Amino acid sequence: MIGLNILMTGSECTPFIKTGGLADVLGSLPEALRDEGEDVRVVLPKYQEISEEWKLQMQPLFQMNVTLGWRNQYAGIEMIEHNGVTIYFIDNEYYFKRSNLYGYGDEAERFVFFNRAVMEMIKQLEWTPDVIHCHDWQSGLIPVFLHTHYKDDPVFEHMKTVFTIHNLKYQGIFSDEVLYDLMEMDERMMSPEGLEFYGDINFMKGALNFADRITTVSETYAKEIQTPYYGENLDGVLRSKADRLIGIVNGINVNDYDPLKDEALAFSYRSSLTKKCHNKLWLQKHLGLPVRSDVPMIGIVSRLVEQKGFDLIARIIDELLDTEDIQLVVLGTGDNDYEQMFEWAQGKYPEKMSANILFSESFSRQVYAASDMFLMPSRFEPCGIGQLIALRYLSVPIVRETGGLADTVHSYNEQTGDGNGFTFTNYNAHDMLFTIRRSLELYQDKESWESLIKNITKSQFPWKYSANRYREVYTETME
Ligand code: GLC
Repeated sequence: MIGLNILMTGSECTPFIKTGGLADVLGSLPEALRDEGEDVRVVLPKYQEISEEWKLQMQPLFQMNVTLGWRNQYAGIEMIEHNGVTIYFIDNEYYFKRSNLYGYGDEAERFVFFNRAVMEMIKQLEWTPDVIHCHDWQSGLIPVFLHTHYKDDPVFEHMKTVFTIHNLKYQGIFSDEVLYDLMEMDERMMSPEGLEFYGDINFMKGALNFADRITTVSETYAKEIQTPYYGENLDGVLRSKADRLIGIVNGINVNDYDPLKDEALAFSYRSSLTKKCHNKLWLQKHLGLPVRSDVPMIGIVSRLVEQKGFDLIARIIDELLDTEDIQLVVLGTGDNDYEQMFEWAQGKYPEKMSANILFSESFSRQVYAASDMFLMPSRFEPCGIGQLIALRYLSVPIVRETGGLADTVHSYNEQTGDGNGFTFTNYNAHDMLFTIRRSLELYQDKESWESLIKNITKSQFPWKYSANRYREVYTETME
């Protein structure tokens, strides 16, 4: 069978530009699909923040004009070939030459431009996608445009769309002016079947209404978002689309995240806990913690935001550090309150707590490698990547059973010896504390701990399986 042509579009992609987990998916799923024989290409905004190293490699392809209402804007198309995948960049300095990716007053205009530019780019390319795979609200207008402005254009005649929700919390909600002024649409789209959302317009809702298939990044999250608690006011729309909503858990690039080959690590290992432990001793020294192999180290690598469950940690951190012989190593930035909480804890318990309020890719890998446990008590978690990397680096995940965490981490059962981590159900600080203590107890029992680690070596998440699920979804849209 001849491979499919898939164009992926979104607002972030590693190694070029990243603020969150979406970037990891766009940076690794295309390669996995290519390995299965598909021709996958990616299109991104050319942000100023992309490093010079990449910008120097970009080859200009062509230029065009994009209309947004009365505006006529320039767009340059540039290209990089990266690990066998073609990446297109849309250049417009007015929209993308800014020091941050998001957080400007004209977000709607910037992404209407981006979506429209993708459509115009497709018209000019000598390559036609079978499916456009759009990720999150920043590319949510593509399915809408395909059914409106471009519906009679023969280039798009057989083209299908898949839309993936990485986080329902961010939807792209703007005033209806955007619809008339920038998107050139009329009041027909100001309806529940269009983009209307409590008097405003909602890019994500548009995508849900017009995409041929909707996917999200775990089976549990696909169910959760159809309920009011997780549904962010779109649960009704999602329930009405249940027959085309599919959960596919993310994988990770297991060649890149490989403790045997990871250049960030002082000591390489794959399955030996003894070798892994050298990384703990190394990090303890590096961070100024007591250098001891017997003390369990709990790692946290995360954006320090509410979604990730830091209010639970805030409630018990004093009790945890006061009563337990542990080391807690945190790496990440985010809300001021949480940054201060960890710094306060480090001041009070300097032998037990290391607060690193920064982000560095290599440092994060050192924490995964050094830690015995990895704590991720999210309030909600569409998929979660931290726990997958932790499993790869043999750091035992302690998670709340929600979204992708529930699908990838199963509680260790002392009786049967099954399971690859520790989990709790209710969003409750003492349930979490109790679960951490369960893990600390098991840690003392070397034999059981080793059998848990053995289970972990067998529960890994390479992309291959999920990439094949996406291929099935693409094929379904074309039937
Ligand atoms: C978002 C979600 C996270 C998911 C990632 C990639 O960042 O919050 O759970 O793993 O997208 O899909």
